[in-house]
Amino acid sequence: MNVLLIGSGGREHALAWALTASPLLNELYCAPGNAGIAEIATCFALDVSDHSAVIAYCATQNIGFVIIGPEAPLVAGLGDALTVAGIKHFGPSKAAAQLEGSKGFTKDLCRDFDIPTAAYARFSDAASAKAYLARQTLPIVIKADGLAAGKGVTIAETAHDATAAVDACFSGQFGAAGAEVVIEEFLPGEEASFFALCDGTHTLALATAQDHKRLSDGDTGPNTGGMGAYSPAPVMTPDLVERTMAKIIRPTVAAMAQRGTPFKGVLFAGLMITTDGPKLIEYNVRFGDPETQVLMLRLKSDLLAALVATADGVLDRFDLRWSTDVALTVVMAADGYPGTPLKGTEIKGLDAAKRIDSVEIFHAGTRRDGSRLLADGGRVLNVTALGKSVAEAQAHAYAAISLIDWPEGFCRKDIGWRAILRDPG
Ligand code: AMP
Ligand code: GLY
Repeated sequence: MNVLLIGSGGREHALAWALTASPLLNELYCAPGNAGIAEIATCFALDVSDHSAVIAYCATQNIGFVIIGPEAPLVAGLGDALTVAGIKHFGPSKAAAQLEGSKGFTKDLCRDFDIPTAAYARFSDAASAKAYLARQTLPIVIKADGLAAGKGVTIAETAHDATAAVDACFSGQFGAAGAEVVIEEFLPGEEASFFALCDGTHTLALATAQDHKRLSDGDTGPNTGGMGAYSPAPVMTPDLVERTMAKIIRPTVAAMAQRGTPFKGVLFAGLMITTDGPKLIEYNVRFGDPETQVLMLRLKSDLLAALVATADGVLDRFDLRWSTDVALTVVMAADGYPGTPLKGTEIKGLDAAKRIDSVEIFHAGTRRDGSRLLADGGRVLNVTALGKSVAEAQAHAYAAISLIDWPEGFCRKDIGWRAILRDPG
């Protein structure tokens, strides 16, 4: 079949890389893609907010399956438009994408179906939010309700920071996303990223992963989209995986089906592993970035078959095999990220870096200018490697990075530290 993949990040390059190994794939198209994806798929510019343009493109290229990578087109209802047009696709409906599109929606669902999460309250005006804050203990977490590109969450250590975060939301800093605010209890613990394919009824857990959200070494500095990841996440023991499926994922899928808005796609649970067990921090309705880069390196089964089985509602007849090796990815970002990144700087040395044992380099914000490879975004490259242990995968990834000549780029030097501390390998 011909497949259209929507997106342009490292996540989409990793998905494209795995899709090209599928015997079911005929041609792979990607909109808009990036310089790395262009090496393995036909990339083209398409305004994905124009649903009729996407549908028309599918007709001209005889697309049999559309995979929607990022959350914005899902929350905007691209999946619903494809359903109406009779085009099979991977990704939830607009109603089901509310699990990511509205934090308040998800918190209420957790309350109604007894899914473990932080205690919370929802507000639509600053005065009542501040009155509530005055009765809470610190630290406390303030979140814009809607999609805010990862910037809408504040962990306030002081009362001043907490009220400033409430004011920032209601002053319109996050646009419509901040018209409502969720205030929630701070959960101490270790975070893990958990993924499950869901076909509306059945669920299939994927491998576990751990992200590094902070910009700098030692998990310091501002939050980012993610600076590196590894899989599996040692914190997620088989017992915790089963508890997460039993207490969080399966009840959510059952609740969404019961409400008449079944969830079909990948459910990405951001978890906090607390002393009381796993609790849901947030849902995303798409694959994680950079977690997907490490998952795809370990996946031994046919990704396309799994995504089609999800769309077809037959996941109960499906299983996936994973390499027992560890995969680790280091994000290389452009100077200025997570603020305004420097664009247009040249990157050299990728061919030599790719020759390091077990290394794959997934592109995010890159473009070609003739034969030159240029940075074209905040997160730019994902240098990804396998190893028998986290330490070995880490050594391969950083050996490859040492061969990349990009003075205007930077990366964390300690991706994997938590797992290495647990097991020095
Ligand atoms: P979110 O966008 O909801 O994933 O939040 C971004 C980050 O803020 C998470 O990855 C956590 O590190 C942190 N965070 C969010 N909610 C909480 C919470 N209730 N307790 C502790 N940390 C949190
Ligand atoms: N790595 C976190 C995310 O994809 O949201």
